[in-house]
Amino acid sequence: MEINKTKTILDPETIPRVDIDFMNNTHVEELAIANELGKQVSAFQDGKDTSDENIKKISDLLKKWLDHTIPHFERENRLMQETGFPAYQIHSEEHDIALNRFRTIISAWDENRDIDLVADFVFTLWPNWFNGHVNSMDMMTAKFAVMNGFDPQASLN
Ligand SMILES: [Fe+2]
Ligand SMILES: [Fe+2]
Repeated sequence: MEINKTKTILDPETIPRVDIDFMNNTHVEELAIANELGKQVSAFQDGKDTSDENIKKISDLLKKWLDHTIPHFERENRLMQETGFPAYQIHSEEHDIALNRFRTIISAWDENRDIDLVADFVFTLWPNWFNGHVNSMDMMTAKFAVMNGFDPQASLN
């Protein structure tokens, strides 16, 4: 399999911003987890740190990332429902697909420690997905919610 070795680390200053603060905050938090994982994955791939300790760190960060993504997507889904966003189906489906892919990567890592697969995910697949998704679905969802009276600074209870 052809693996792209280009390492994309997203910068919290330059990621796309949407009109609702709690969404932006969640995205910045996610980026921090992804970047932390990226460092450990690089160290493993370059052969600098293939210790059991690093394997555990990578596993823990993947779990932390998934545990952060589930409520991230749930909150956005709820925002769409509460504000009557017309493209709910499309946006929530993108979330479902992303979560499935995430779980597949984690299982593959748990089963055979395939670092290249994790690297491809964290450095290529996910950054591309994230930029595209935030720039389209999240952007439109936030815009629509604010247009329909949602306070940009409010959190979702
Ligand atoms: Fe989002
Ligand atoms: Fe989203």
